[in-house]
Amino acid sequence: MRLKDKIAFITGGARGIGAAIAEGFVAEGAKVVLADIDLAAAQDTAAKMGRAAFAVALDVTKIESINQAVAQAETHFGHIDILVNNAAIFDLAPIVEISEASYDRLFTVNVKGTLFMLQAVAKHMIKRGQGGKIINFASQAGRRGEPLVAVYCATKAAVISLTQSAGLDLIKHGINVNGISPGVVDTPMWDQVDALFARYENRPLGEKKRLVGEAVPFGRMGKPADHVGCAIFLASPESDYVVAQTYNVDGGQWMS
Ligand SMILES: NC(=O)c1ccc[n+]([C@@H]2O[C@H](COP(=O)([O-])OP(=O)(O)OC[C@H]3O[C@@H](n4cnc5c(N)ncnc54)[C@H](O)[C@@H]3O)[C@@H](O)[C@H]2O)c1
Repeated sequence: MRLKDKIAFITGGARGIGAAIAEGFVAEGAKVVLADIDLAAAQDTAAKMGRAAFAVALDVTKIESINQAVAQAETHFGHIDILVNNAAIFDLAPIVEISEASYDRLFTVNVKGTLFMLQAVAKHMIKRGQGGKIINFASQAGRRGEPLVAVYCATKAAVISLTQSAGLDLIKHGINVNGISPGVVDTPMWDQVDALFARYENRPLGEKKRLVGEAVPFGRMGKPADHVGCAIFLASPESDYVVAQTYNVDGGQWMS
C-alpha cells in the first residue's frame, strides 16, 4: 500500500482519467476527494468507492469555489496530502475562426484553474508543514502546436511551464510539483474531440479517433487506467527527488 492513509484531492474526478486515478489511489490505501463541476457524476463515482471517497462541487474557474471545496475536504478528511490537478476542457478551430469566448473559456479552466487550485492547496500544505505532492495534467498538445488546436495546445504548454515554476518555488516546503502529459486517451473528452475533427476535417464520426489510435507507437489509444501507475509514483515518497518534471505517459507519442 504505497498511499496508505494519504488524502488526495482530485479535480475533474467524476469521470475519465481523474476517476481512474481515484480508484487506483484508493486501491493503494488513500482516501480521495472527487471534486468536479458535475457534482451528481462525482457523487455516483464516489458511491462506487465507498467511504474512501467523498464528492464535492468545484468550479476551478472560481477562487471562491476552490476555497470552499478545499475547506470541505479539510472538514471531511482533516487535511490534503496530494492534489491531482486534472480538470480541463477542450475546443478546436482553425486560427481564423477562433473566438474570444472559446479562448477565454479554455484559458480560464485549463490555466487559471490549474494555477489557483495549486495555490490554494499549496497554502494549505505549507501551513500544515508536512510537505505534499501536486500532479498537474498537461498533454502531448502542450509539447508542440497543432493546426486546429492552437488554444488548447497553448493552455497545456502553460501547464508544463507552471509545473516548472511552481515545482522550483515549492520544493523548499517539501512540496513536489510534477506533471503527467497524456497522449490520446479514450475518455468522454475524446468523443468531443472526434466530433469536432469530424466537422472541421469533413470525416465520418469515429474515423479520427481510430486513426490517432492506430498511429500510437504502442499500438492503441491510451486508457484512463494507463495513467494510474505514474500518478501513484508521483504521489508517493518514491518520487521525493523528482521536481518540476512533466512525464509523458503516451505510448511513445512524444520524446522530451
Ligand atoms: N483524453 C485525452 O485524450 C487527453 C489527452 C491529453 C491530456 N488530457 C488531459 O487529461 C485530463 C483529464 O482528461 P479526460 O480525458 O479524463 O477529461 P474528461 O473530459 O473525460 O473529464 C474532465 C472532468 O473535468 C470536469 N471539469 C470540467 N470543467 C471543470 C471545472 N471548471 N471545474 C471542475 N471540474 C471540471 C468534468 O466535469 C469532467 O468530469 C485533462 O487535463 C485533459 O486535458 C486528456
